Amino acid sequence: MADFEGMWRDLAPIGRSASTGGYVRQPWHAAELELRAWFREAAAARGLTVEEDPFGNLAAWLPGHERGTEAVLTGSHLDSVLDGGAYDGPLGVVSAFAALDLLRERGVAPTRRLGVAAFVEEEGSRFGRACLGSRLAVGAATWDAARELTDREGVRLGDVVQGPGDAGDDGDGAGDGTGSGLLDGVATYVELHVEQGRGLIDLDAPVGVHDGIWPHGRYRYDIAGRADHAGTTRMEDRADPMLTFAMTALAANKQARVRGQRATFGRLDVRPGGTNAVPSQVTAWLDARAESDAELAALVADIERQATERAGRDGTTVTVTAESVSGEVAFDPALRDRLAARLGGVPVLPTQAGHDAGILQEAGIATAMLFVRNPSGVSHSPYERAETADCLAGVVALADALTGLVT
Ligand code: GLV
Ligand code: MN
Ligand code: MN
Repeated sequence: MADFEGMWRDLAPIGRSASTGGYVRQPWHAAELELRAWFREAAAARGLTVEEDPFGNLAAWLPGHERGTEAVLTGSHLDSVLDGGAYDGPLGVVSAFAALDLLRERGVAPTRRLGVAAFVEEEGSRFGRACLGSRLAVGAATWDAARELTDREGVRLGDVVQGPGDAGDDGDGAGDGTGSGLLDGVATYVELHVEQGRGLIDLDAPVGVHDGIWPHGRYRYDIAGRADHAGTTRMEDRADPMLTFAMTALAANKQARVRGQRATFGRLDVRPGGTNAVPSQVTAWLDARAESDAELAALVADIERQATERAGRDGTTVTVTAESVSGEVAFDPALRDRLAARLGGVPVLPTQAGHDAGILQEAGIATAMLFVRNPSGVSHSPYERAETADCLAGVVALADALTGLVT
């Protein structure tokens, strides 16, 4: 069997925190650059040709088929959320290389171009936009807008990645909004991912197929009040944005809970940040998810309405800005059914997590997702897990799926 475990051991120390055991692998920082170097080495060791687009997306191709001819691509991403798990992303890339090894061991000779991808900034943990690399690769985001995105230190994306250069260009030199050219000819994409919930635990199955992705979005709440003395200012004389935020966080949780949806404030910035001062400004980021575009819009509108009503009582103001919104995705039904049948009728479930696969599907590439059981049911956390036996079952499932697609 292909050396899945060897590759996994090589990646394990890269970007791991000694204190939490979690991973910080933000794009274009040291750990992620090391992972990109590993990707190139893994590709070279297999005789694959690596292409990198001007945004940093990577694809490694088996020899024998021309660029631009009909291609099948598999892979995922190498970046992580802040203090995330080992598996979200890298599992799909390592499994892709291992699946190619298995095809070779089985003597499968692909009749189509076949490659392994690693999309950059999938998590949007540095520049705030989910699936930024794949959006740029397919032309669903423009470089003119993306280059101005800044990270928490104020560094511009345009200053860390080369980009296509010319204003108005999208990466392939044609300036036609069709993407970077990296995916030219790609007709099918299959992404393997660790499960980020409990579906396969409950069904007692090691591997499943996703049929769709819930729509999700990130919304910045800028709540402005008035800085004041924490001791001398009477409670009734304050304009405290922290109160508006606190009620908004509770309202978001309740709105999502009663509807069976998701709403999370996971990031907060308080200015000026003094213990003995009423803050002047709270900036908070809402992540909201629901089963349809209309349900998501209704959830987000209800949370904003409650925040605004509360601001009226607190003497504060609220401004909401949508920073990253991803619509509902239904993966290619024919491909889904073909894969599920080929894999012996594995479970088919939707996911509430975002993926580059959703961006490629929306760009017209027939896309499918395999996912591997996570015994903790936890993700975006150091507690994310996958058993080696399940990962190996995932590699076999991916190899079986690819065999059906390239022969
Ligand atoms: C990415 O994993 C997301 O769902 O935000
Ligand atoms: Mn993730
Ligand atoms: Mn992921």
